[in-house]
Amino acid sequence: MKRILILNGPNLNMLGEREPEIYGHETLGDIKAMCEAKGKELGLGIDFRQSNHEGELVEWAQGARKAGFNAILINAAAYTHTSLAIHDALKVAALPVAEVHLSDPKKREEFRHFSHIEALADIYVAGQGAKGYVLALEQLKKLLKD
Ligand code: DQA
Repeated sequence: MKRILILNGPNLNMLGEREPEIYGHETLGDIKAMCEAKGKELGLGIDFRQSNHEGELVEWAQGARKAGFNAILINAAAYTHTSLAIHDALKVAALPVAEVHLSDPKKREEFRHFSHIEALADIYVAGQGAKGYVLALEQLKKLLKD
């Protein structure tokens, strides 16, 4: 079974109460349950994590290949726009990457337009809310088959 590491960055633990008009009403627990259900359906193993700390996200990405993961799905949240360290750690992982955002950062403030992850992402899903995670898992499943 192919295994997907799902990484969530800072403030995503506050989903549900955090700006629901932008990010929706689902909690991170709801999104985790959606991903696990889709993983079962697609025959993918899911390990769903969140951290508010850049270094922890870096270490999880660095170790992903050795830990036996086949791909990384990441919503790096605000670190998307600032973290060269997460970009570099994803390169270290040398695994397929799906970048996911609940909102569409390119349609928001200018400081959200640039992503450090996009250049190395095989899959990019934004502006689809919580179901964007599920759409990215479906695309990863196809990518891992080829
Ligand atoms: C986000 C978009 C980012 O700009 C923001 O900092 C987030 C969430 C999203 O999922 O839409 O925290 O990644």
